[in-house]
Amino acid sequence: MNTILVGAQFGDEGKGKIIDVLMENTDVVVRYQGGNNAGHTVEVGKEKFVLHLIPSGILRPGRKCVIGNGVVVDPVALVEEIRGLESRGITVNGKLLLSENAHIVFPFHRNLDEVREQHRGKGKIGTTKRGIGPTYGDKAARTGIRLYDLTQPKVFSAKLKARIKENNAILKSLGGKPLNFAKVNKDYLAAAKVLAPFITNTVIWLHDAIKRGKSVLFEGAQGTFLDIDFGTYPFVTSSNTTAGGAVTGSGVPPHKMDAVVGVIKAYTTRVGEGPLPSQSKELGDLLHGMGREFGATTGRARRCGWVDSVATRYSAMVNGIDYLAVTNLDGLDTLKQIKVCVAYTLDGKKIQFPPNDIDALARCKPVYRTFKGWQKSTSDVRKFGKLPREAQQYLKGIAELTGAKLHIISVGAQREQTFTV
Ligand code: GDP
Ligand code: IMO
Ligand code: MG
Repeated sequence: MNTILVGAQFGDEGKGKIIDVLMENTDVVVRYQGGNNAGHTVEVGKEKFVLHLIPSGILRPGRKCVIGNGVVVDPVALVEEIRGLESRGITVNGKLLLSENAHIVFPFHRNLDEVREQHRGKGKIGTTKRGIGPTYGDKAARTGIRLYDLTQPKVFSAKLKARIKENNAILKSLGGKPLNFAKVNKDYLAAAKVLAPFITNTVIWLHDAIKRGKSVLFEGAQGTFLDIDFGTYPFVTSSNTTAGGAVTGSGVPPHKMDAVVGVIKAYTTRVGEGPLPSQSKELGDLLHGMGREFGATTGRARRCGWVDSVATRYSAMVNGIDYLAVTNLDGLDTLKQIKVCVAYTLDGKKIQFPPNDIDALARCKPVYRTFKGWQKSTSDVRKFGKLPREAQQYLKGIAELTGAKLHIISVGAQREQTFTV
């Protein structure tokens, strides 16, 4: 069984937690896009891990973790992440595989990310400043350097020298910080020594694993509305976060994929700029007051809103979501009433799908349906039938409005706080 797991909203849906749960019965996990802009939280017992590049299956012994060709890798950050895990008793040796074709994030990408954001002024995207956009830009422009190059120091250094020369000129023209070749070269070759044993042809490895009957879980990062094609462009990330990205970002073809799991929160959050039609200050104040919804990567407060089924319906369509996982149900435990956006009105007309024109989307007004709250703690519930009746109705309602089968419910950050329907 090969499963693709995607975020069906704006990122941070709780993908890391659901991946960790599904890995109980899965052999291999593959990150297929994004980079260390991602922050996937997994809580096991008293320990909390935030994974940025390493797949969220790493905490399960004996599982293999692949970083596919579609990911952009900051080698220095990856070594730091590996060291951080090792210091907590988790080794990646014998578990981690890195695609030779994954593109490398350099400090000039981060500097460009930062300086371009400054130039955008009020129109800024609110990126994570991890250099993600500029790295994918180089990939598309065919000027990128890949992990394969890290295994050949001489070739690597020559390519890096040329890239630093060009990027320093660009950085200077934009008022950004130029870089010193010798320093970057030294830092990256040091990281290369650590990473070289993991760098391989992951396409061939994955096909062989599938042939041997191994099950694979494809771990999406970000969310559908941050997708470069289907998201709220330009307020998006620079990769295909939707299910198709799992194919191009891993080299495993579509007919080998058996199911798509879409993860949503029982409400909506968004970090960074861009439209969020169902945003609610009241809900944001409540969740932030509970110490929830601060970014796992940048620590920024996430904007909060009600479930937007106009968005999740589109998400179900684009990703082909077979099964819906709903996280953070417990976040709504205290509410008397819960709203769900069921349609938008745009310039006086009712619409069922989000418009592609970002200005039109900004003019959309949500049409809400109100569900009755349950006002009881759900954190200790482990069976759908034991949830308060109102919570069951709410979950069935959002699944029906989304057009996907309700499958996994999460009522807390811990592994155990999960059950299927
Ligand atoms: P990801 O990027 O999709 O993996 O999500 P993040 O880790 O960035 O954000 C999800 C947050 O919700 C993390 O702090 C998780 O520990 C937390 N979380 C996930 N599921 C639940 C849940 O059902 N209840 C609670 N209280 N927290 C949850
Ligand atoms: P996970 O995998 C939420 C957002 C940024 C910004 C936009 C572009 O944890 O769900 P980028 O640095 O990618 O160029 O930023 O995308 N963003 C995320 N928001 N979760 C993420 O990842 C995100 N990764 C990027 O805040 O709005
Ligand atoms: Mg996250």
